[in-house]
Amino acid sequence: MDIILLGPPGAGKGTQAARLQSSRGMVHLSTGDMLREAVAKGTPVGLKAKAVMEAGELVSDAIVSALIGERLDSAGGGAIFDGFPRTQHQAEALEMLLADRDRTLDHVIELMVDEEALVERIVGRFSCAKCGANYHDRFHKPKIEGICDVCGAHEFKRRPDDNEATVRTRMAEYRAKTAPILPFYEDKGLVRRVDGMAGVDEVAAAIDAILDK
Ligand code: AP5
Repeated sequence: MDIILLGPPGAGKGTQAARLQSSRGMVHLSTGDMLREAVAKGTPVGLKAKAVMEAGELVSDAIVSALIGERLDSAGGGAIFDGFPRTQHQAEALEMLLADRDRTLDHVIELMVDEEALVERIVGRFSCAKCGANYHDRFHKPKIEGICDVCGAHEFKRRPDDNEATVRTRMAEYRAKTAPILPFYEDKGLVRRVDGMAGVDEVAAAIDAILDK
């Protein structure tokens, strides 16, 4: 099964994709994670993407489509696309990448959210510098302050694009370039909607219900 999780920054795409990866063995393909890895390693792609990401704008369609193409075969048992596609061009590129492998999308799950609440979600977000486990200043603190629940590390990090000004730009990009691809998937009968403002477990249950239908 191949699915897209669609929603603005902070809607919970990464949170739900990580859960689906561990509960269903699907592969989580996040273009944001791939780009951050390229930036951290200083690869040619990373060097091109760094300033664009820090400004909250979109990296070129060609770069992100190539990143997905390189990873798609590793997700032969099913992929969760998180943060891709983000433009009509990317949506068409994904169709072709899947068709080349005799695959088609099963669901496009839109997380319905209130953008104002998302600013708080994003600005409070941090993760373990060692294992990447995600936390939040208010909604999900480590059980013991300063110590990662998963690996015990003491170092945490925040994304450079998780400040309010950049988040507003990211949301504007979503409204202008990503939300308009929904009709493309609606015409194919693939769009399912989930209340992304519910708790993490409730959102996960709603997604499970769609996948188990
Ligand atoms: P990307 O990494 O994809 O970021 P994003 O889409 O802005 O999404 P986020 O990761 O911020 O949010 P999320 O929806 O995953 O929410 P999360 O689960 O973390 O992209 C970053 C940048 O890379 C882009 O701006 C662009 O420059 C570039 N890029 C990436 N892909 C690209 C592409 N295809 N084309 C061009 N450029 C691209 O949750 C957020 C917080 O809320 C967490 O703290 C979490 O714990 C909490 N939370 C989650 N769910 C809930 C809930 N139900 N209730 C309460 N809290 C919750």
